[in-house]
Amino acid sequence: MELIKVGVIGSGAMGSGIAQVAAMAGHEVHVYDANPVAAQSAANNLKLSIQKLVEKGKCSSEKADVILKNIFFQSSIDKLNYCELIIEAIVENLEVKKEVFSALESIVSDTCILASNTSSLSIASIASACNKPERFIGIHFFNPANIMPLVEIIPALQTDNKITNNSIELIKSWGKTVVVCKDTPGFIVNRVARSFYGEAIRLAEEGIADYATIDWAMKEIGGFKMGPFELMDFIGHDVNYKVTETVWEQLFFDPRFKPSLTQKRLYEAKRYGRKSSIGFYDYHEGAVNTEASKDVELGNYIFKRIISMLINEAIDTLYLNVASKEDIDLAMTKGVNYPKGLLRWADELGLGTVLEELESLMSTYEEDRYRPSVLLKHMVRENKHFYL
Ligand SMILES: NC(=O)c1ccc[n+]([C@@H]2O[C@H](COP(=O)([O-])OP(=O)(O)OC[C@H]3O[C@@H](n4cnc5c(N)ncnc54)[C@H](O)[C@@H]3O)[C@@H](O)[C@H]2O)c1
Repeated sequence: MELIKVGVIGSGAMGSGIAQVAAMAGHEVHVYDANPVAAQSAANNLKLSIQKLVEKGKCSSEKADVILKNIFFQSSIDKLNYCELIIEAIVENLEVKKEVFSALESIVSDTCILASNTSSLSIASIASACNKPERFIGIHFFNPANIMPLVEIIPALQTDNKITNNSIELIKSWGKTVVVCKDTPGFIVNRVARSFYGEAIRLAEEGIADYATIDWAMKEIGGFKMGPFELMDFIGHDVNYKVTETVWEQLFFDPRFKPSLTQKRLYEAKRYGRKSSIGFYDYHEGAVNTEASKDVELGNYIFKRIISMLINEAIDTLYLNVASKEDIDLAMTKGVNYPKGLLRWADELGLGTVLEELESLMSTYEEDRYRPSVLLKHMVRENKHFYL
């Protein structure tokens, strides 16, 4: 792969990780942040992060020197004029992003690829701010970008196929696992994962089980690395609630994605989770949290309900052609560490079992959130599988 010059705008959590990945792949990287304090702290953190790799023997000190010398923190966006790819990772605000890209177009060459790392905004609408929207694409890394292997590539309606193919090849050459998805709310991971959180909260709201028991069930029976409540507290309710709300609004208020009042109140009370020492759990020193009941029958009920909701969403994502079945499974295992791809899991559990569970929930609650995907119904009727 040609070692093009890469620009990164925004040097926060994501921008600094993306700059590190690009520099480690051998590129000259130019980083610009509107806030000089943020840029300085990113420069310090990058040094520490690369030093750590040297200490762990994952990078030689000679290579570390080359990497660090290849990252330039620029005080003006104009200095990104020679870059051939620019990835934006600034504040999640459509108007601000549009302003940045329309300013960038007057600086860079006609062939420079412009990309956004947005988690929730429409790629088509950011692209519409450009004179040449065909060079615009979504390149969505996961946090921390230098560690998480997955990158979602999202061509907008306007994106030229050549730009999509070049972006896929380039990001693969950075050692990342690439999946391609349609420009739809939440892309793959942030769409499919919603019910892992939403159904868990619903179970707790109904008093069926407490947080600790639901977390225990999903880890012990489901094999997930973290339970939904631990994970939401880890991500932070400021981020997790906002993603849920945005995906729901952008899917025209589809009840399957409806946020919960429980999480909204945590967000409003600034009980963000680990970062504020309290969320679903209390992390203050000496705090005592409820222990899991470890009731296997209850655990099986919890697991079956949440996994059926997750599988239904993965199947609907396939049904609506958001991504291929292989990419949907890869996205969930590489982007959020699920123990198995959900479509493969569906085959193992039996599609009929999943449909039965959803139909039983639908008939009990009479709520559209339990609506089975049309594809699931077709596949059960025709006795089909995804992989077997
Ligand atoms: N944090 C995550 O888990 C995550 C994961 C994937 C994608 N994203 C997306 O990545 C983007 C950045 O998120 P983050 O978590 O790194 O945010 P952050 O708040 O850590 O960093 C944003 C940086 O952008 C800078 N900035 C703001 N406006 C700017 C402008 N006009 N010009 C230049 N710099 C500007 C800020 O000074 C800040 O340093 C967002 O679009 C977010 O949705 C975040």
